[in-house]
Amino acid sequence: MIDAVSFENNTLGYLDQRLLPLKEEYIRTTSYLDAIEAIKTLAVRGAPLIGIVASYTVMLGLNSYNGNKEEFPAYFEKLIAEVEASRPTAVNLFFATARMKEVYDAHFASDSLEELFSKMLAAARKIHNDEIANCENMARHGVELIQQDLAETLKTRKLNVLTHCNTGTLATGGSGTALGVIKHAWQEGLIEKVITAESRPLLQGLRLTAWELEKESIPFLSISDSSSAFLMQKGMIDFGIVGADRIAANGDTANKIGTFAHAVSAARHNVPYYIAAPVSTVDITLSDGSQIPIEERSADELRTIFGNQVATPSTPVLNYAFDVTPNEYIRGIVTDKKAVVGNYTEELKKLVD
Ligand code: MRU
Repeated sequence: MIDAVSFENNTLGYLDQRLLPLKEEYIRTTSYLDAIEAIKTLAVRGAPLIGIVASYTVMLGLNSYNGNKEEFPAYFEKLIAEVEASRPTAVNLFFATARMKEVYDAHFASDSLEELFSKMLAAARKIHNDEIANCENMARHGVELIQQDLAETLKTRKLNVLTHCNTGTLATGGSGTALGVIKHAWQEGLIEKVITAESRPLLQGLRLTAWELEKESIPFLSISDSSSAFLMQKGMIDFGIVGADRIAANGDTANKIGTFAHAVSAARHNVPYYIAAPVSTVDITLSDGSQIPIEERSADELRTIFGNQVATPSTPVLNYAFDVTPNEYIRGIVTDKKAVVGNYTEELKKLVD
């Protein structure tokens, strides 16, 4: 059982994902600044997990407050702003801080700080528990959709599935979004093999997804990101499924850089390509994907490989952490409420309302 994140006795615990799979180190902290650093450096990562950790980070910030009630609003505003500045793309982070702000707005005037903090802790725990439950629901809807879409192939053999980045327990606290669907599909006997793309430059696919699949004894093969088109051409991939960091109102989807390239290859080879994400990842305020803020990370993530310099320090680098896959490349979006196939603007709105 992987324990991606915990919050006990006002202490945040998390598995340091930068060290996996070679070292399993569980970090504990009561400092909200440490927690923000963990989000920034990807010690914790993956959209739903970022949301969970963000809500617990707010709790750490609250627990270290030692001022009076009058001064609290200014402290709270600054705390929320610091948490929100940690990573820009995964909307789950902003979903989590919005939930915490709602509790604050509803109860600050009438409650003591102690009462307020205990209601906010309940809200943070609910975000965590909801994300775990969301994974189970996505898995159910995703397996049904795959069974329908790939019924013909399933009559004769099991399926090979391509995935990108890490969307499992490490990214959600539950079984996963895309990887949760895959794990359940494998348990149902639908999957022959998982093909996990390495997901450069931080290798979430090669390091983290492979680690999770190995733990669950699910057969898999790791490939370089640039191999997917060739494997599709050879008929080695039956479908693709990935997660999302933010889905615009029209279904355009931001996810780990490289996701769009697999989608283009999938369209070229008639391979169905799905997104799995909880409704908390849908940002209905953005009409299309061009409005999604895309994180750019440091040049050294490319110039070095795990501390080893592989390019000169002066090499100019452009390091987008995410790309946006336009909705026409997406066969279906599997959410915790239902799987949506096409007609995204109308259908996603109904799910969020
Ligand atoms: O930069 P990361 O590792 O946080 O990026 C994670 C992804 O892109 C995942 O695919 C996405 O958050 C969905 S996780 C369930």
